[in-house]
Amino acid sequence: EKAGFDHFMLKEIHEQPKAYRDTMGSRISPDGRSVVFNELHMTTDDVKAIRRIHIVACGTAYHAGLVGKAVIEKLARIPVETDVASEYRYRSPIITPDTLVIVVSQSGETADTLAALREAKRCGARVLAITNVVGSSVAREADDVIVTWAGPEIAVASTKAYTSQLIAFYLFALFLAQTLGTVPADEIAATLAALNKLPEQVEDILAAKDAIKAYAEQIAAHEDLFFIGRGLDYAVALEGSLKLKEISYIHSEAYAAGELKHGTLALIEEGVPVIALAIQTDLFEKTVSNIKEVKARGANVLGIGYAGDEELQKSVDRTFAIPKTLDLLAPALSVVPLQLLSYYASLARGNDVDKPRNLAKSVTVE
Ligand code: M6R
Repeated sequence: EKAGFDHFMLKEIHEQPKAYRDTMGSRISPDGRSVVFNELHMTTDDVKAIRRIHIVACGTAYHAGLVGKAVIEKLARIPVETDVASEYRYRSPIITPDTLVIVVSQSGETADTLAALREAKRCGARVLAITNVVGSSVAREADDVIVTWAGPEIAVASTKAYTSQLIAFYLFALFLAQTLGTVPADEIAATLAALNKLPEQVEDILAAKDAIKAYAEQIAAHEDLFFIGRGLDYAVALEGSLKLKEISYIHSEAYAAGELKHGTLALIEEGVPVIALAIQTDLFEKTVSNIKEVKARGANVLGIGYAGDEELQKSVDRTFAIPKTLDLLAPALSVVPLQLLSYYASLARGNDVDKPRNLAKSVTVE
């Protein structure tokens, strides 16, 4: 049932191109120019009535929600807040009938996420669920559901469910934008064309996995590591750090690169591994100057950037390249080397990759 792979996690990482295709599926019109969400019950007036969006989720799904926030705000210009479900429930969030609450859950059974959904409904908000399990509690109780067609995810560490959630957010943000007219039709078509290319681009990254494996074997001997990035690269850094902690048990922190000198830089010393995501074009120069700050303190830096980026290559100890895409879509590519990194680091440490200590696949208690 592992289809020739040693672990479910590795199998699921390799299933991502298919998961992307299946999640896009019939949601892109045959001419490739618009998003079609037949399953949503939202009319144009319903969409126009949305004043704010709250995205609520736990763990990896929360990290997908951080990307969702950036993408919806950029494309649809609706204010979005993203919260961890266990915090959202108890902070008396301002939920009004013109709030759209989006809950994100692979399993659709996470206790805090389900409780947040119920609280949102009690306050009269419309609830949209993004979930991987048809017929789950979250799917049954939400007003609208976008199913991520990633297929069953067995490994505790979420991989293809996360990336399918990203695809769902891209499509939903484009749907909002086309309904509200916030993005020109040609730009929507160009974004959909770039989305369609992602599965093939993930294949290219997977084909280069030996380079990540070799690097993972080196960092497996370390106890502390840092991920840095800005904007969407920071959102991906958070997910990379969670994945690494979860299955390799190596302590790591994800930092917004511009925040380093407000405290964390004190921890950087000779030989500390730093993984720097430098993909977002408008923030690139700023990130490179943060890379120079850690390099000056002796950090050993792996830079993740677009293929052929010479400036990044000059600033770091080694690079791993991702294929060129729209910056907005880059998280769906840049997270893949980080998934592979945590997988191979866990393997090198002799851990039980699919069933990390202390963790369960679905957290149905608070
Ligand atoms: O089933 P859910 O998406 O609601 O689960 C949420 C988290 O428990 C989950 O993403 C967790 O963080 C993963 N094990 C991370 O890989």
